[in-house]
Order: sequence, then structure tokens, then C-alpha cells
Amino acid sequence: MKTDSGKGRDHRSLLGQFFTPAPTAAFLASLFEPLPEEVRLLDAGAGEGALSLAAVREISCSHPQVRALSLVAYEVDPAALPLLHGTLAGCGELCQKAGIKFSFQVISRDFIEDSKDILSGGFFAEDVPSFHAAIVNPPYRKIASDSHERRDLSALGIETSNLYTGFLALITKRLAPRGQLVAITPRSFCNGPYFQPFRRQFLDDMAVRRLHVFDSRSETFKGSQVLQETIIFHALRGLPQGPTVHVSSSPGVDASAMTEAHISFAEIVHPGDCQRFIHIPSGEQHLAAKRRASALPAMLDQLGLMVSTGRVVDFRLRDSLRPDPQVDAAPLVYSSHFNGGSVHWPWLGGKKPNAILVNDQTRPWLVPAGRYVLTKRFTSKEEKRRLVASVFDPSQVPGDLVGFENHLNYFHACGAGLDRELAAGLFAYLNSTLVDDYSRSFSGHTQVNATDLRKLHYPSRQTLEAIGKGLERLDLGQTEIDAILERHIHD
Ligand SMILES: C[S@@+](CC[C@H](N)C(=O)[O-])C[C@H]1O[C@@H](n2cnc3c(N)ncnc32)[C@H](O)[C@@H]1O
Repeated sequence: MKTDSGKGRDHRSLLGQFFTPAPTAAFLASLFEPLPEEVRLLDAGAGEGALSLAAVREISCSHPQVRALSLVAYEVDPAALPLLHGTLAGCGELCQKAGIKFSFQVISRDFIEDSKDILSGGFFAEDVPSFHAAIVNPPYRKIASDSHERRDLSALGIETSNLYTGFLALITKRLAPRGQLVAITPRSFCNGPYFQPFRRQFLDDMAVRRLHVFDSRSETFKGSQVLQETIIFHALRGLPQGPTVHVSSSPGVDASAMTEAHISFAEIVHPGDCQRFIHIPSGEQHLAAKRRASALPAMLDQLGLMVSTGRVVDFRLRDSLRPDPQVDAAPLVYSSHFNGGSVHWPWLGGKKPNAILVNDQTRPWLVPAGRYVLTKRFTSKEEKRRLVASVFDPSQVPGDLVGFENHLNYFHACGAGLDRELAAGLFAYLNSTLVDDYSRSFSGHTQVNATDLRKLHYPSRQTLEAIGKGLERLDLGQTEIDAILERHIHD
């Protein structure tokens, strides 16, 4: 498959014509989830057939359940048609070898016009079934408001000013329920203000499963004049959006250089955002954080540490709660006691009790006084970080026992407190932007459970202690915390 047919640049840009290199096409095709036994596949703007070929190759090798494949390829450029026919004949041979019944149809008519006729219940409407899968590198070109493309799209309720989003919107409509779309397109639709109606329609109709971004746009269409930032995605029609999206990035499509993470959909399209912006840049940041954090050497048990959820469920011990400190009561700590990196106790006049009576009923829920690192299990949307850690210092608080309320997690050394350096180092690490980005990559909500903290990778004990040693105060700003961490954690 050639990547450049040697035609003039004007001709190509008129047709929005940039052919997909074979490795990229193979990557797109690899994104399909299991397909039905009989597949109707669409390649809209097929060019010389790079994507069709990659899809057929993938289906014949990796989708053994598929018994019949019928391919529909749209292409308006007469110059591309002979090669397209040749490629599709080659697809037939691949299918024959795999025992798949294959047929294809090349439609040399404008995809927009044809789709308008089909979707608006025109003459051919009844005869055209929908597709189970579509693989597409649609033409990119602005379409003027008085163009026939705009009129055709508007007639179907699609308002968009670029051919590629017009194609995507039409393909979506031509997919069967659960129909799969894999596409390589410019990234502009993710945040361009003019693409808002398209985004709304697309995100309402499709469940996004995979997003792949290129670290460098030059790699994707090497040798062509493409200066657009490109994105590859996989989405399914008519399914509810899942809580996370598999996001990856790489310089090219070389799997060995790929960074991957499952990012919460709420991080990608913010709930309540009427623009429905698709944020993948933060995905890249998360991916980088995931890569860095995952490379850290220690798990919690290797540090000799454990994390547990605060044991005091206050409404179950209501009779023993006291608003103010008293002699026969232990300090009771809530997240409202967090202040500038440490626990400020008591908070007199606050909404929460400050103490819990020490008696037979409450003793099992209290822990020996010691230095613990506490984290909030829930943070409010207004809070900048997902993970907020504080140090509980027993020298600031009276008594041998302490109660940690159930909305907190606490790090301990098998039930006992931590050394100052280790606690301070852990405090800095947990409050870092690195951990914040990382925790956003694995969690779709504002909750950080003890299980999440157990899964996290940590710097070695030695590094944590070194970080802690250099930390004279805890009331540090984000920049200071991150700078300290950078000095100790190297890639
Ligand atoms: C970006 S190229 C992609 C070609 C091929 N799918 C690939 O990946 O190599 C888009 C193709 O769509 C074709 N095209 C442009 N406008 C079209 C239209 N309205 N209907 C059908 N095909 C069109 C162009 O001629 C071009 O071959």
C-alpha cells in the first residue's frame, strides 16, 4: 500500500485525501472488539483501501467467529478506484484462506449524498441494512455553509463545518446498535467550540472505549503534508458510556513505546460541561504520572506499612461522642481537623465532636496514640487534589488512645505509629501532583479507598525518609511539595 499516490497537493486537499500508513491501519483494525458471525463493514472514503485491507486481515486472523464479511467502500476519486478494486480483491483472497465468505461493493458516489438518501428514507432506504463495524480515515476539509454537503447534513439534523465530523456523524447513524467505529481523525473536534453540536450528538450516541493520541503528529502521516494533530478512537453505538476509557499515547503506533491507562470518563468529559469538551491532554499527564508512579520500587508492605479505614463510625457510637475534650475521653479526629498539613485538635465550636469516651464499647475502635499519616476518603469537588494527606502528631494531643473517624484512612506500622521522617516523607508523596494525577487515572470518582492506596507504588523507605528529613514544616504549597519530590524521585 502506497502512502502517497503521487497526485498534486491541490487535488488531494480538495478531496481531503491522506492515506493511512499500513502499521497505523493495522493498529486501528486491532481495536475492534468481538464481531458477530456475519459482519457488514463500512469504509467511508476508502482511498486505495488501506483500512479495508487492515480490517479484513485482522478479522481473518483474530476473529474466528466471523463466517461472512460484506464490505462496503465509498470513494469518489476515480483515480483511486483501480487500486481500491485491487486491494479489495486481495481482501477476498485473505478471507478465502480463513474460510470466510466475502463480498464487497465499491460505491463511487459521495458518501454524504448517498447517506442522506438512505437515512432520510429516500428511494433506496429499505434495501440498505446498517453496519456492524466501520473503519474510517475520513476526508478533512472545511465545508462552506452554502455547500451541498452542509445542506445534506443539515437535512439530517447534523450541524458541522468539516467533512470529517460530517462523515463521523453519518457513520454513527448508519451503525447498528452495538455497531463499532474505529477512526483516525484530526483532534480538533475534541475542543473546538464549533464542534460542540457534533460532540453532543456523538457522545450521546456512542460509548467511547479507546482513545489513542500521538505524542508527535509528524510520525502519523510521515511523508504526507498532514499538519493536523491526529487521534485514533474506538466507540460503540447505543451502549451506555462506561466509567473509564482506555487511553494510550505513543510517538507512532509502535506498541512497545505505548503508554496506557484507564482514565475515568468524568475526567475526559467533565460532568455538567455543556460544551462537552473531550480532555485528552490531561490524559497524557495522567499517563505520564502512571508511568512514573508505577516505576517506583515499593509496595506498602515492603515499607512495613499498612493502610486502614478509620474505625469510628460515629452514628453507631453516638452516646459516647463528646463535643469538647474531657479527661475520660480520647481525641476523635475528623477530616475537618485537617489544617495546613497537620491535625489541629480540638476544633472547639466546630460541627463535629472532638472526643469519644473511652469505655468497653468504644475501646475496640480506638488506636494507640502515635504518629499516623491520615488521608481523606472523600474530597469535595472544590478541593484541588484528589488525595489529601495530613500528619497526626501525638505530641500535640493528650492521651494514649485516639479515634479516627470512618471518612479517613490512616497509614500505620502494623497497628502502631510511624517514625517522623517516614511519616513526613509519606505525607509529601501522597500530597504530590504525581500521586494526584495518578489517582485520577485509576479512579472515576472523588473517593480514594484504602484499596486504592494499597495498589499504589511508593518510593523506597530510604527515599521517603530522605524526603521527610528535608521537610521542616508541613504547611507547604503544592509547588514546594512537588519540588521536594522532584529532588528525590528520578525517572
Ligand atoms: C483521508 S483519505 C483516507 C483514505 C483511506 N481511507 C486511507 O485511510 O488511506 C479520505 C478519502 O475520502 C475520499 N473522499 C473525499 N470526499 C468524499 C466523499 N464525499 N465521499 C466519499 N469519499 C470521499 C477521498 O478521495 C480520500 O480518498
